[in-house]
Amino acid sequence: MTDCWGRDIHYLRLSVTDRCNLRCRYCMPEEGVTPVPHDQVLTYEEMLEIVRALAGLGIDRVRITGGEPLVRRDLTYLVAGLKAIPGIRWVGLTTNGILLSDQLSGLMQAGLDGVNISLDALEPQVYQTITRRDELVRALAGLEAARDTPGLKVKVNCVPTRENRSQWVPLAQLAQSGPPLDVRFIQLMPIGCGRDMDGADPQEVYTALERAFGPASPVETAGQEGPARLVAFPGFAGRVGFISAVSQPFCEGCNRIRITPEGVVKPCLQYDSDLSVRGLVRSGMGGFLLQAVLQEAIYQKPRGHHFSRPDAPGDEHRTMSEIGG
Ligand code: GTP
Ligand code: 5AD
Ligand code: SF4
Repeated sequence: MTDCWGRDIHYLRLSVTDRCNLRCRYCMPEEGVTPVPHDQVLTYEEMLEIVRALAGLGIDRVRITGGEPLVRRDLTYLVAGLKAIPGIRWVGLTTNGILLSDQLSGLMQAGLDGVNISLDALEPQVYQTITRRDELVRALAGLEAARDTPGLKVKVNCVPTRENRSQWVPLAQLAQSGPPLDVRFIQLMPIGCGRDMDGADPQEVYTALERAFGPASPVETAGQEGPARLVAFPGFAGRVGFISAVSQPFCEGCNRIRITPEGVVKPCLQYDSDLSVRGLVRSGMGGFLLQAVLQEAIYQKPRGHHFSRPDAPGDEHRTMSEIGG
């Protein structure tokens, strides 16, 4: 459906948990965040009911996010359920990869179409500094399993900061040879813990990569690649992308809404929202009423973020792990 700014909204980011097995500095505090009590987290059945209502409004792509989605049990059930909803033609997953190699074959059987793997370093010490955990080996096993899976679209996400400057070139090299994948550099957003950190300037990353690999040429994506601006480096099998929400906002072409694990509808990443559909679903008033509420929320989607004024009224106060990124 179209929102009041004329944008076609057809992509849902569905966060299934606020829990995570890492503590990435830009995302979660060391001590974690108070977890949403289990009885307030939507069940998979409740999520499927919400997505059925959204599919009736034109949502056709769903990305499962977290926290770390793979820490929630039986995710394959949700993937299969989403793929069975008429109108849902694509289901992706954003994960840190740690539990991926164990779960990937089940997820593929359930119909998973793509996986985005968050990976900020290939060097164990740097990985540990950023994630506060010693899990690089399992994360890399997850990446390898994904790369080896025919028909699965694989992307790697890196948030460039001062801590992983030495890793930008090695990470981009993942796109150089082997089964093609995209490596994307995500500009740090001033949300949650990201407010207290300095991210790297995307131009600095770009320059470092051009110095290493030669001149990049833009890849024309006709708006099919979401917020990433993609480039090709000479001889690379895959592509390198830049998601620069702060310095090059992409709100004008935004096609997304979000649902948090406790059922809050978030039409825009940066704005707080108190619209919960959990009560509606639990009271048995699904169907048309649920759809009408969702329709109104989508229609009223804010025009854009205001990262340059991060303490404006209505700002999101949660961490990224609580929202789903
Ligand atoms: P695809 O385009 O389907 O691959 O998804 P994606 O790249 O948007 O998903 P992913 O979960 O890998 O997110 C990559 C980064 O983009 C994360 O940091 C997200 O928070 C960010 N992102 C995704 N959608 C939006 C959005 O609508 N607004 C902003 N500001 N950031 C977004
Ligand atoms: N700014 C930018 N990206 C972030 N992510 C988490 N927190 C932030 C932030 N403050 C990224 C993760 C993951 C994706 C879902 O969101 O690295 O790849
Ligand atoms: Fe966990 Fe992802 Fe947040 Fe890292 S960025 S703490 S992996 S939810």
